[in-house]
Amino acid sequence: MKVAIIGGGPAGLYAAILLKKQRPSADITVYERNRADDTFGFGVVFSDATLDNCEKYDLPSYRRITQEFAYWDDIAVHFRGTVHRVGGNGFCGCSRRKLLLILQERARELGVVLHFEVDIDDESRFADADLILVSDGINSRLREKHVDHFQPEVDLRANKFAWMGSTKPLDAFTFIFQETEWGPFIAHAYQYEAGHSTWIFETDPATFERAGLTGLDETQSAARMAEIFGWFLDGHELLTNRSMWRNFPMIRSKRWVKDNMVLLGDAKASAHFSIGSGTKLAMEDAIALADALAKAPSIQAALDLYEHGRREEVEKTQHAADVSLVWFEHVDRFWDFDPVQFAFGVMTRSKAITYDNLKLRAPEFVAEVEKSFAQQVRDNGFEVDTNKPVVPLFQPFRLREMTLANRAVMSPMCMYSAQEGVPGDFHLVHYGSRAVGGAGLIFTEMTCVSRDARITPGCAGLWNDEQEAAWRRIVDFVHGNSAAKICLQLGHAGRKGATRLMWDGMDRPLEQGAWEVVSASPLPYFPDSQVPRELDRETMGAVKDAFVAAAERGDRCGFDMLELHCAHGYLLASFISPLTNTRTDAYGGSLENRLRFPLEVFEALRSVWPAHKPMSVRISATDWAEGGITGDDAVIIARAFAEAGVDLVDVSTGQTVREAQPVYGRMFQTPFSDQVRNEARVATMCVGNITTADQANTILAAGRADLVALGRPHLVDPFFTMKAAAWYGAKDAFCPPQYLPGKDQIFRNSVRDRQDLEELRIKAKPKTRAELKAEATKPLAAE
Ligand SMILES: Cc1cc2nc3c(=O)[nH]c(=O)nc-3n(C[C@H](O)[C@H](O)[C@H](O)COP(=O)(O)OP(=O)(O)OC[C@H]3O[C@@H](n4cnc5c(N)ncnc54)[C@H](O)[C@@H]3O)c2cc1C
Ligand SMILES: Cc1cc2nc3c(=O)[nH]c(=O)nc-3n(C[C@H](O)[C@H](O)[C@H](O)COP(=O)(O)O)c2cc1C
Repeated sequence: MKVAIIGGGPAGLYAAILLKKQRPSADITVYERNRADDTFGFGVVFSDATLDNCEKYDLPSYRRITQEFAYWDDIAVHFRGTVHRVGGNGFCGCSRRKLLLILQERARELGVVLHFEVDIDDESRFADADLILVSDGINSRLREKHVDHFQPEVDLRANKFAWMGSTKPLDAFTFIFQETEWGPFIAHAYQYEAGHSTWIFETDPATFERAGLTGLDETQSAARMAEIFGWFLDGHELLTNRSMWRNFPMIRSKRWVKDNMVLLGDAKASAHFSIGSGTKLAMEDAIALADALAKAPSIQAALDLYEHGRREEVEKTQHAADVSLVWFEHVDRFWDFDPVQFAFGVMTRSKAITYDNLKLRAPEFVAEVEKSFAQQVRDNGFEVDTNKPVVPLFQPFRLREMTLANRAVMSPMCMYSAQEGVPGDFHLVHYGSRAVGGAGLIFTEMTCVSRDARITPGCAGLWNDEQEAAWRRIVDFVHGNSAAKICLQLGHAGRKGATRLMWDGMDRPLEQGAWEVVSASPLPYFPDSQVPRELDRETMGAVKDAFVAAAERGDRCGFDMLELHCAHGYLLASFISPLTNTRTDAYGGSLENRLRFPLEVFEALRSVWPAHKPMSVRISATDWAEGGITGDDAVIIARAFAEAGVDLVDVSTGQTVREAQPVYGRMFQTPFSDQVRNEARVATMCVGNITTADQANTILAAGRADLVALGRPHLVDPFFTMKAAAWYGAKDAFCPPQYLPGKDQIFRNSVRDRQDLEELRIKAKPKTRAELKAEATKPLAAE
């Protein structure tokens, strides 16, 4: 077998090693345009997990690499004169130059042929090769040559970064967030060998410009960075090596394989440096390709297996890298945070690390986070314990005169089980049991303001006395038997009305008994849906009156809070999104115009809803569709409602248009809540695939939302909150007297179960290489 490898970076060299080990008789040649020891950049980082892989696949190179490594366990976050250190991270640093020399030496030893100073921009010279590996890095020429086939998507990020070095020793992976007269600068720094550290500097384009960095050469810009970070560098100089300021390109390729040619490493996909995974991905690509070649019956089948088997893992890492880079791009959002909360945000930015996980590794740090959170709650007038505080989820929260005992919320969920809009016994049990189960706040399902405002024939409403009496019965039960507060969500289905019950075909038009539907514009949801009538001014007035009448009934029922549903493509949302609003009057066009009717309805409600009771608005913070609402629009929308008196923005997303492409995942809507809360400076509730109290605590402690709503988890577990209270020892959680023996038992058992689990986790956790190295170098007498 004949293999040509274009590019001798970590991907190309490691693939050469693994393939040659697997097929010693193969003719494998690497073509590299640089000289053998001519490498740019300083250090690279690996996690312990990546090294475990390298150990498994090629012990000799692993041994040489690890002899050269600098190990560290801590991450240190420097911010506004403070430093927070978090242990247990298990990272290793190595000089990129040494890594490549080790891989070259090992490849040669095995019989791989290495050609340096050969620039390849065309694969035709490898016509006799069975396999061509394209590992020529982020600016891959071969990928660009076949751009129509590989279809790379290159997202050039806004921030500027430069990769430099220093002689400054560091004992932790160090993030420095530095305020300057021009704006924030960030340093990502780590030691990679004795006496040398890597320094990646990052800043936003406006700060870059203001700091006068445009047009400076390498030496001048290094001097400017040395001025900014001089207090930390301690007289150590900054070193440069092609350290030009660049914008990071996030690359994703639609195809990785063309005939016998395959993309590896940065050539196929990049991952932002803030999660230090570029070299890991490159070497793990080589491993995946070697595995595929060992398993599959032919080269073509192996390439297919590589592409399809590996894609998900790469996309997951890229997603984590994306979330992380967005955090760094928007660091100014958190600039006025308490430093410990800021550091918690840094640690948990890419979702991989959570509250419980940190509590296990860095208990003192999390204890400080808890105290800081409790102090904020105390500053808001609550007499809470700041010495031994309960976890954020069980800290109280206030909106106007409504106080919530905790931050767990049952999200609004249609039950499609009302008769002529009247909630029945099912609803009493449904809401009653979730309230008794401990949630601080429960939302009603979307309650429709008129008969023709319903989504389905099973939707609940509040337009007549019978419905009012039925809702009052539910509210009375909640108030009489729990500590929960209850919020009425009012809505109008708009063009998604007259559709079937969820279990008969969500959003599909009714075959019989449909009523006329209305919307901002006459655009049907599905091509075969009813074409809605465009709302005229007169009907807009009637709709507003129906909302007002329902709110007045809601107040009479005793609801504690009112939410206006302006999300998910229903009537009011259909005005806000440009994808569903093509009007040419004062209610269409600019975002300001599109918001006009929803704001008029909100203001009308606010004027009749008692001043001491809060109001929220649910929005779709993105349509997940080209040309639709984005996170930046959501900030403007939130500000407009806040000016009109909204107390909380309930941040959901999507469901506007059928062709939307949401990116699901754990806590997938939380970044939008973060953006709205910390840019529009309004309280938010987040929701969406949040399934554990650990996730809820992570979100709250990082300041990404004020309340956390759970929908589906509550459908199967009314006692979600009570169980979480037991787990975290929040003793004061309300429990109706009838159930107290159950509360006593679960609280007693949970303490023990939690201790057992933590001990197990600590025992099961392998020692990091930093810990092993520290043990190995400890003098025997100290044992
Ligand atoms: C600022 C910054 C910091 C980073 N920090 C880290 C980190 O801490 N940890 C980490 O793991 N990763 C880090 N990375 C990422 C890492 O450098 C890359 O992801 C990794 O090196 C990718 O390996 P590769 O083999 O795919 O590509 P590369 O390492 O880029 O190798 C490609 C090789 O192909 C050669 N080549 C290119 N074109 C041709 C051609 N036409 N003909 C012949 N040869 C060619 C190049 O000279 C090069 O040697 C960082 C990246 C940046 C930009
Ligand atoms: C069965 C069901 C019905 C729903 N009905 C409503 C509703 O009436 N109003 C609303 O704003 N959201 C509604 N939603 C959306 C939820 O409130 C929530 O935002 C969504 O389920 C994501 O949260 P989760 O991942 O915790 O379930 C509904 C969701 C489900 C599963």
